[in-house]
Amino acid sequence: MQSQQKCIMIFALVCCFAILVALIFSAVDIWGEDEDGITEDNCSRNCRIVLVENIPEDVYLPPSGPAHLPLTSGLHNLLDRTVRSVEIVSPVWLLNSSDYESSFQPAAMEGRALLTRLQGLKDRGVKLKISSEETDSPELAMLARHGADVHFINTSALIRGQLRASFWVVDRKHLYFGSATMNWRSLATRKELGVMMYDCSCLALDLHKVFGLYWGLQFKDFIPSFWSKRVYALYNRDEPLELTLNSTKAQAYVSTSPSLLIPRDRSSDLEAIGRVIQEARSFLYISITDYLPLLTSSAPRYWSRIDGLLRDALILRKVRVRLLVSCSEQTHPLSFNFIWSLRSLCMEQSNCSLEAKFFSPREQRDGSFQGINHNRFMVTDSAVYLGNLDWVGNEFTFNAGAGLVIGQQEGVDDRNSTLVEQLRDVFERDWFSRYTRSVQPDKLPVCNRQAASRLVHLRSTYPPRSPAAPVGGGPQTRLPAPIRTTSRLNQSHHSNKQEPSTGSSGHPEDRPASTVGGSLEGGGATATQPDDGQVEVKVHHSDAPMGSLLPRQPIESSGGRELQSGPLWAGPDV
Ligand SMILES: *[C@@H]1O[C@H](CO)[C@@H](O)[C@H](O)[C@H]1NC(C)=O
Ligand SMILES: *[C@@H]1O[C@H](CO)[C@@H](O)[C@H](O)[C@H]1NC(C)=O
Ligand SMILES: *[C@@H]1O[C@H](CO)[C@@H](O)[C@H](O)[C@H]1NC(C)=O
Ligand SMILES: *[C@@H]1O[C@H](CO)[C@@H](O)[C@H](O)[C@H]1NC(C)=O
Ligand SMILES: *[C@@H]1O[C@H](CO)[C@@H](O)[C@H](O)[C@H]1NC(C)=O
Ligand SMILES: *[C@@H]1O[C@H](CO)[C@@H](O)[C@H](O)[C@H]1NC(C)=O
Ligand SMILES: *[C@@H]1O[C@H](CO)[C@@H](O)[C@H](O)[C@H]1NC(C)=O
Repeated sequence: MQSQQKCIMIFALVCCFAILVALIFSAVDIWGEDEDGITEDNCSRNCRIVLVENIPEDVYLPPSGPAHLPLTSGLHNLLDRTVRSVEIVSPVWLLNSSDYESSFQPAAMEGRALLTRLQGLKDRGVKLKISSEETDSPELAMLARHGADVHFINTSALIRGQLRASFWVVDRKHLYFGSATMNWRSLATRKELGVMMYDCSCLALDLHKVFGLYWGLQFKDFIPSFWSKRVYALYNRDEPLELTLNSTKAQAYVSTSPSLLIPRDRSSDLEAIGRVIQEARSFLYISITDYLPLLTSSAPRYWSRIDGLLRDALILRKVRVRLLVSCSEQTHPLSFNFIWSLRSLCMEQSNCSLEAKFFSPREQRDGSFQGINHNRFMVTDSAVYLGNLDWVGNEFTFNAGAGLVIGQQEGVDDRNSTLVEQLRDVFERDWFSRYTRSVQPDKLPVCNRQAASRLVHLRSTYPPRSPAAPVGGGPQTRLPAPIRTTSRLNQSHHSNKQEPSTGSSGHPEDRPASTVGGSLEGGGATATQPDDGQVEVKVHHSDAPMGSLLPRQPIESSGGRELQSGPLWAGPDV
């Protein structure tokens, strides 16, 4: 009797366990229907690679080396080739510019043309698959009506972050990887860079696994404790894919973020960046939108992962570093302080060189700044890293992004330049262009006039608390934007989630912006918000210890980042 009961109990337990295992294993699985027989054993490693760029019409950059394919041509070219499937991940879907936007920006029509092409894929018998975190996008709804399969990932529930990955996999054979998103601005007003790889089924297969992971997370609000074998990485930084690019030998692998979304064998973006930096011998050129070694959750801290690697490369290995960052409404006021601290590391050191420049922003019709340069890459003497994330602590900790590393030894090909050499040329073209400005210690650039003017504003109104200047960066702070430029059209700019046009708040005219830049010099500002809600901003003296540079409250809330990404950073410190 006793043993019979025991038996039943054990049986029930085993059943429960089996069901649990089945559930867990089914948690993230790539659908099995359309496997086409190409495996990692017989996939193609003889790839052709083409650099693609979008250079906005109002930006003139002298050609460097061979002309690069325009991004739109590259994407249309991929759509011309496709016969079976197109898989797209994009953080944003905004290809259809408004009539107003297209009226002053003819290139905005490129987005509509691309959307029309995607819409027509079904008639050609091509399956369009999209992974997205946008539930309410009218464009995705429209594409779904035209036969696209759209899978929604609840990234805020899964990783408390956002989806930043942006790539295409076509027929599991060709791929696009780069900084551009499915936003008409990426095809018109922003400077973007990426690569097209053709007949490269080995790498496409691996990138398809990243897509499959997002795809499989539809409707999930937890991360599976086991990943299906189908999403395991094929290649990583220790065992990269050996391939040829335009008949030149190379190595490549795909990395992803954040650590919660990394199945077995996949290298993380930070591991990839670390490896590329550590293997740099003579130079390291970095072109990114944002550089901020801070983790700004509820208890902000210094985030040293990338900063430490750069310091190591600079001072111990004497690698020459050039850092080209953007300057826009979204730029954090402390970005340039951290960059400057890297520069000062090289003081009185021979063969230690860090140079920093920023890409001058474009002034909007409403007086706000828009970053032009959306490139996110790093190039060294032997490798390139293309990524989706800004170099900000929060990005790597919470957001879902991907990276592509391609390694090529210098001078392997005598006549034709390798991709690594081409990217170096692109970097140098931008670096020496008329759009860049050096970062000067006595005149740190003020990119975010709103945040900067608020700093001044707060200081000037303290101790009496100003109701118009809450630290929270809420809607109250979005005062009507003063029109600063005389322009053809006198309307407010259309904004979207990616590029909020927040306008400049407060009274930027009251104080010249350079005052703020000057007062930040050599020290740093911390904003603190005591419990009674009073707002206080202190400017430290230049001899303040490093730790005191770090704000105790999320200083982002007075910057543009929060407006861009929402107050997500209440997550755990990882
Ligand atoms: C690749 O190999 C698989 C099995 O190993 C086979 O089914 C498939 O037909 C092969 N594909 C090609 C293109 O050779
Ligand atoms: C794009 O926007 C225009 C104007 O806002 C609208 O007329 C058109 O139907 C939209 N196209 C698609 C495909 O949604
Ligand atoms: C995403 O998950 C969160 C938390 O589980 C939930 O509150 C929210 O409604 C979900 N969003 C959607 C669109 O399902
Ligand atoms: C190298 O360049 C030459 C001409 O510049 C071209 O004909 C040839 O196809 C190129 N080779 C490769 C492998 O790209
Ligand atoms: C600096 O570089 C030069 C040329 O590369 C080299 O000759 C010199 O020894 C280096 N100095 C130090 C201190 O490494
Ligand atoms: C590879 O070859 C194609 C033409 O086949 C060319 O357009 C492209 O620029 C080449 N890529 C590199 C990195 O040389
Ligand atoms: C532009 O708008 C501002 C405020 O809305 C107004 O004062 C100004 O007269 C307008 N300028 C033109 C040229 O319409």
